[in-house]
Amino acid sequence: MSVFEGKHILLGVTGSIAAYKAADIASKLTQAGAEVDVVLTEHARRFITEVTFRAITRRPVLIDLFDEPEERQIAHIHLAKRADVLLIAPATANILAKLAYGIADDLLTTLALATQAKLVIAPAMNTVMWQNPATQQNVRILEARGARFVYPVEGMLACGDVGAGKLADTPTILQAIEEVLNPPLRGVRLLVTAGPTEEPIDAVRHISNPSSGKMGYAIADEALRQGAEVTLVTGPTLLAPPAGAKTVPVRTAQQMLDACLQVYDAVDVVIATAAVSDYRPAEVWQGKRKKGEPEWTIRLVPNPDILRTLGERKGKQILVGFAAETQELLQNAQQKLREKNLDLIVANDVSQEGAGFRADTNRVTLLWADSTQKPLPLMSKREVAQYVLQAVRDLLRARSSSEG
Ligand code: CTP
Repeated sequence: MSVFEGKHILLGVTGSIAAYKAADIASKLTQAGAEVDVVLTEHARRFITEVTFRAITRRPVLIDLFDEPEERQIAHIHLAKRADVLLIAPATANILAKLAYGIADDLLTTLALATQAKLVIAPAMNTVMWQNPATQQNVRILEARGARFVYPVEGMLACGDVGAGKLADTPTILQAIEEVLNPPLRGVRLLVTAGPTEEPIDAVRHISNPSSGKMGYAIADEALRQGAEVTLVTGPTLLAPPAGAKTVPVRTAQQMLDACLQVYDAVDVVIATAAVSDYRPAEVWQGKRKKGEPEWTIRLVPNPDILRTLGERKGKQILVGFAAETQELLQNAQQKLREKNLDLIVANDVSQEGAGFRADTNRVTLLWADSTQKPLPLMSKREVAQYVLQAVRDLLRARSSSEG
């Protein structure tokens, strides 16, 4: 049976040239067994009429907040209550801004505030509008609140520009709704390591690195949204722990290893994004070391390699590592994959602009144990997280089918 069967989907259409494509989405959802209630904004009506949607969905199309087709019910509250999913496709920059700030000045935005349905948003707009920091910030605000975005794709836009801004295609949007209704990582137990480690020198100093933890937190967050049970073992970061994860804060590499070993036997997947300090001071000063000596030599000794240790003890787990490199990216990553007994490694050239430490974006190549490679363009860390988790889902599926 289709996951859409008997589901109530509210389809909000806003004023973008791509509004006509919403007719195809409404049609496919209806064919798949969903009951689709279409809400058009005033601007959407400049591009497409309610007649089209009424014919497709065989249901009234809603426009005005004060339309009350059934006298006994307040239409928007009734619709808001019974919806399983609120899909906004296409979504303009304007609706993203209104949703981010809770503005409710028409039927669609009022519904969005009044519903507890899952929100799926497929934006479509001019590239510059999409990339505008205001729009991107609104996307992040909504994502942090749990909205599922189906990002626009690159292509020739109505205005003649070429770039990101085209509405994603119907199958991709339908797949996103399917995932929201039926989270693909439900039942999967995932361990994520994130952030830097700190190796104390004395009471007030330590050795560390500039890792912000953003990549690991994005993976934890995205995995939670996809239904996974997540343990996040994290070094010190400034990020808020993702709601719903079991977060274990640690400081040193040894503490991170201990925390990972505690849960290792009970997890299905490990994704190691932590930038672990490879060495630690051999001796830690008691208290604060006073200045005065002309020189200070600190002797360093190796830290445990957490991922390698997990690789050596690997049972049924799927192990995913990250490789931070500044040279010979793929060769070095391939070597780490082999030596740490991994299933997948995410190779990351941290010397490139917009990639690696502290950035919100990343440019990575996925490398599998069978030497398959997938280079990805520069994208947000959340999008990288989605690609990594898609690869994990494929590995889990391959594993369960090989087990018969
Ligand atoms: N890693 C780990 N424990 C360590 C070092 C690394 O678990 N002590 C993990 C990282 O989280 C990452 C992968 O191993 O998933 C590769 O880390 P990276 O820093 O790129 O490589 P290293 O193994 O430290 O090797 P090198 O520093 O020589 O490049």
